[in-house]
Amino acid sequence: MSDQCKKRKILVTSALPYANGPLHMGHLVEYIQTDIWARFQKQRGHTCTYVCADDAHGTAISLHAEKQGMTPEESVALINKERIRDFGEFHVAFDNYYSTHSEENRVLSDSIYKALRDKGHIATRTIIQAYDPEKQMFLADRYIKGECPNCGSPDQYGDNCEKCGATYTPAELKNAFSTISGAKPIDKESEHFFFKLTDFQDFLKVWTRSGTIQTEIANKLAEWLDAGLQDWDISRDAPYFGFEIPDAPGKYFYVWLDAPIGYMASFQNLCNRRDDLDFDEYWKADSDCEVHHFIGKDIVNFHCLFWPAMLTGANYRTPTKVSVHGYLTVNGEKMSKSRGTFITARTYLDHLNPEYLRYYYAAKLSSRIDDLDLNLEDFVQRVNSDLVGKVVNIASRNAGFIHKRFDDMLSANDAAPELTKAFMAASETIAEHYENREFGKAMREVMALADQANAWIDEVKPWVIAKEEGKDQELHDISTAGINLFRLLLIYLKPVLPAMAENAEAFLQCGELSWDDSQTLLLNHKINKFKPLMIRVESDRVNGMIDASKEALKMADTKTETAEDNAAEDTSGKWLKEEPIGEQIEFGDFAKVDLRIAKIVNAEQVEGADKLIQLTLDIGGETRNVFAGIKAAYSPEALVGKHTVMVANLKPRKMKFGMSEGMVLAAGPGGADLWILEPHDGAEPGMRVM
Ligand code: MSP
Ligand code: ZN
Repeated sequence: MSDQCKKRKILVTSALPYANGPLHMGHLVEYIQTDIWARFQKQRGHTCTYVCADDAHGTAISLHAEKQGMTPEESVALINKERIRDFGEFHVAFDNYYSTHSEENRVLSDSIYKALRDKGHIATRTIIQAYDPEKQMFLADRYIKGECPNCGSPDQYGDNCEKCGATYTPAELKNAFSTISGAKPIDKESEHFFFKLTDFQDFLKVWTRSGTIQTEIANKLAEWLDAGLQDWDISRDAPYFGFEIPDAPGKYFYVWLDAPIGYMASFQNLCNRRDDLDFDEYWKADSDCEVHHFIGKDIVNFHCLFWPAMLTGANYRTPTKVSVHGYLTVNGEKMSKSRGTFITARTYLDHLNPEYLRYYYAAKLSSRIDDLDLNLEDFVQRVNSDLVGKVVNIASRNAGFIHKRFDDMLSANDAAPELTKAFMAASETIAEHYENREFGKAMREVMALADQANAWIDEVKPWVIAKEEGKDQELHDISTAGINLFRLLLIYLKPVLPAMAENAEAFLQCGELSWDDSQTLLLNHKINKFKPLMIRVESDRVNGMIDASKEALKMADTKTETAEDNAAEDTSGKWLKEEPIGEQIEFGDFAKVDLRIAKIVNAEQVEGADKLIQLTLDIGGETRNVFAGIKAAYSPEALVGKHTVMVANLKPRKMKFGMSEGMVLAAGPGGADLWILEPHDGAEPGMRVM
């Protein structure tokens, strides 16, 4: 640690996503932002722990489970598994991803509640609430609909009218009904538990102004604080999926009471497995460790009022920082299912490299609360021009010489000392941007350096020198400088592009790149053969992702609300029944089939054939002509540029329209219901498929 004398101990969290629907591009703004920050802290040598969990409790989750024909426990467990997989593929590296429906969370919630109660911060009162006599449960406002008492519009929610903007109580709605059972709600009395936020009014006035929150947010909170806080209703009546309140049978904690305690519980669960982490050291009232929460702007009151009040009331430390981000829009508008811009994490992963999105978000993120736009055209353009065109290009322009001419050895001299000096000097500025969550500024610094490196290479022209007699040393020194400049950039990009950095570390044979490595050079050092680190984003793939998002909506519509609900539909047995698995074969039999990755370089209608498309397949240096019976399922334009898998050693077959030299792999019953296979990003024409 060159410049920082103190090793910090940092606990980082992202908001705990509700376990009742798929992760989408909006969520990812938060998890990618937090992950970049946590990775940066680790790379700087600090002890940084990133925890999260599913927010598993509440009515929305039990209703979702019911629709899927599962218990809440089963549904939550299933979602938890999918989440861990999806986050993993986006390189969001939690140290622990847990669930609020856990024993640790129950114990902590009980003890925090009891501490608040014993200090007199809990009150009880009887309230009147809408009740569904059929479903036998109390109804939150959003589960009641009826006619607006002001303008008479039908189908309005329990607390406000979308047509005329009037606000009212559910009791005022005309012809009200429960959206769960359709029954007419009745009024019913119930005793509720309240957290006396008013006890913390003075504390919160100081706390919200102590540098813990962005000024814009603190100003907003000041309005609420000046207007005076109200007690917070923290109980719900059975049936409710959550934790029962101690000494109050049939009463449950409202989901937002135990949700933030879930941060502590996830950390506790990790501490139980790790000797080097001590729960109390991080959470005791006078802790000198740091706790950082990353959240969206919609949940500020929970994190900046209720949560610090609860913590301080129960004699725990309060957060060091709560960092609030804005909302995601796609192409300038709210994510929309019908426009295909409600893109789930899974659909994205099926089409595009996660690091494209990590970079794009990083380039657009700042410490402000402004909304962030994912403009898909800009996305393609920026990733291609910055990452592929600028950064990776520096390595590919130099690596070949080191490999072919210098036996993979870097020279002992740096041909661009001024430039490397500038690159090294940028280290602290870039670090400061990361620290302050000004990732966009950090990316701009890095790309400005990349521009300088490319300009220098253009000037010294290694490809010209390579052809000149007696200039070996010069060429060696230049390409060594190029590789080193690339390495320095990768150090600065590593929090954003962890997978690319890992591949670069393998290429450079340099071990894990720490931040301090930015003050050194690799000289007289053997490196590996260069493999392309990132390929260009193809607009086709982006369009494919939008189409797939629209498709998911269509399928979901016919059944239930979300794409994920749809996944619960069990069609898995159908295809096996229609066509049972074939007889077993020896491996040798399989190995005879030579499957290759092929790029569809051309696709055309075949005149006179009503089922065929003529494909020209590039299998890495050779092309093959194949007639495929996929006309009803694909238009030729949709295929050009795509990769697929072909049987490359199938004996050519003479057909009416010409020779067919192989076959592409596809699944489905036929006709329009046919899907050709497509490999994940990175597979190249000619690669054998095994
Ligand atoms: N379960 C609560 C959080 C409890 S924290 C103790 C919740 N869950 S959520 O799934 O709705 O949202 C999780 C996080 O994702 C929140 O911080 C939310 O602001 C963020 N986002 C959800 N949709 C988003 C966008 N469209 N854009 C940016 N962030 C978004 O709230
Ligand atoms: Zn109205």
